[in-house]
Amino acid sequence: MEKKRAQWSSKIGFILAAAGSAVGLGNIWKFPGRAYEGGGGAFLVIYLIIVVALGIPLMLTELSIGRASQANVVTSFEKLGHKGFSWAGWIGVVGAFIITSYYSHVGGWVLRYVFGYITDAPMIYADSTGYFLNMLGALPSGETFFPWIAIVFAAVFMLINAIVIIRGVESGLERFNKIGMPALFILLLILLVRSVTLPGSEDGLAFLLSFRWENVTFQTVLAALGQAFYSLSIGMAIMVTYGSYLSKNENIEKNSVIICLMDTLVAIIAGFIIVPAVFATLGPEQIGKGGSFAFISLARVFEQMPGGQFFGVLFYLLLLFAALTSCTSLIESIVAFLTERFSWKRTGATIAVCLVMFLLGCLYTCSQAAFPIKGIWFDAANGISFPAFGDAMEFLTDRLMIPDCALGICIFVGWVWKPERIIAEVEQSGVRFKFAKLYRVIVRYVAPLAILAILAISFVTGTTLS
Ligand code: PHE
Repeated sequence: MEKKRAQWSSKIGFILAAAGSAVGLGNIWKFPGRAYEGGGGAFLVIYLIIVVALGIPLMLTELSIGRASQANVVTSFEKLGHKGFSWAGWIGVVGAFIITSYYSHVGGWVLRYVFGYITDAPMIYADSTGYFLNMLGALPSGETFFPWIAIVFAAVFMLINAIVIIRGVESGLERFNKIGMPALFILLLILLVRSVTLPGSEDGLAFLLSFRWENVTFQTVLAALGQAFYSLSIGMAIMVTYGSYLSKNENIEKNSVIICLMDTLVAIIAGFIIVPAVFATLGPEQIGKGGSFAFISLARVFEQMPGGQFFGVLFYLLLLFAALTSCTSLIESIVAFLTERFSWKRTGATIAVCLVMFLLGCLYTCSQAAFPIKGIWFDAANGISFPAFGDAMEFLTDRLMIPDCALGICIFVGWVWKPERIIAEVEQSGVRFKFAKLYRVIVRYVAPLAILAILAISFVTGTTLS
């Protein structure tokens, strides 16, 4: 039995949901550190060029595949007559599954810090490393225990996600993003004003607005590429699912531009929050990225900032909204697959999948500090290695699955299904695809080569580029 397919009820609802997927932890805790390493304004210029030249075309490609096939990521390739390419969809679904497992736990840690800053900011300031490790089940003495604090908060975080997904595309995802995304923008603006009015923040601002091309290397460009893919949620086929809920009247070209620019704007604003604040309080050499920076180093920024506790709460709330709206998009893409492919009920599929992902995520959290649970990895620089289980999960998705899925989609569209079909899908809404010629070149040559470069470099040097 064919049920009527869910659809976004409004253009703004769709844009906010897609932007909500894209705007995530990557924008807020990775981008500023990268901008600092990559020479301030010089990195921003490179990043913008990549978003325009590759991000927008790939976003448009995923959305068009979804809308043309009206199906989830795996079935979409079959419906378009190329079953042989459904492996790209499978990588998308399995990748989304693995990312959600750890992303939801990290989201739980963020939630813990929202409460932490409300109730025990002085304790965090006194020993920010100890506070973080304690959440993860380790004491300064080296003793370890079950990381129940992190796990309880991860369970709550996952529960919120499950509720949103069970409510469906329109009354769940769309409504949630319509509230969450404006709230996120307001938080961003408040934090921006706080940061740039700190005495001493001028140096950070000047740094971001200066162009230190001498800091830019080939690695910087690749790092910007990896960052752009991850940040825009490209390469997990999330946007295929989101595109499948999109009405034929919508202009995909214009919407892709808006979504990508919104995501980039948030990343840049986050840069203008973090870099000046760290310059003004701890000094430039303290700028970092990722979890330990966001949970440990930033505590000393909030400690020194007037009104630090209040702004600390707002900052972790910002991270929380960013994490929630990304995590729901990942779960939606898995649930869409399970309900369409195996005719599972939405509620049952959501509960089952969230439960399994939560449990897998427990291994991620436990492997951070509490228990020596190892994964396995291989790259040319280090040979076979046994990193923490959680790290291996991230390597698998960021270094291998995201680029592979994106590469599969480019080869499929560029060489097999043909760019003309995407162009025709975009033009369904009655508008001309303005950059069709350029698009063809990008999807056939430029994007696949760029992705191959990411894959090769991360394999050879053993570094994650997202
Ligand atoms: N784009 C999200 C971020 O910036 C992460 C993400 C990746 C979400 C892939 C969905 C799919 O954090």
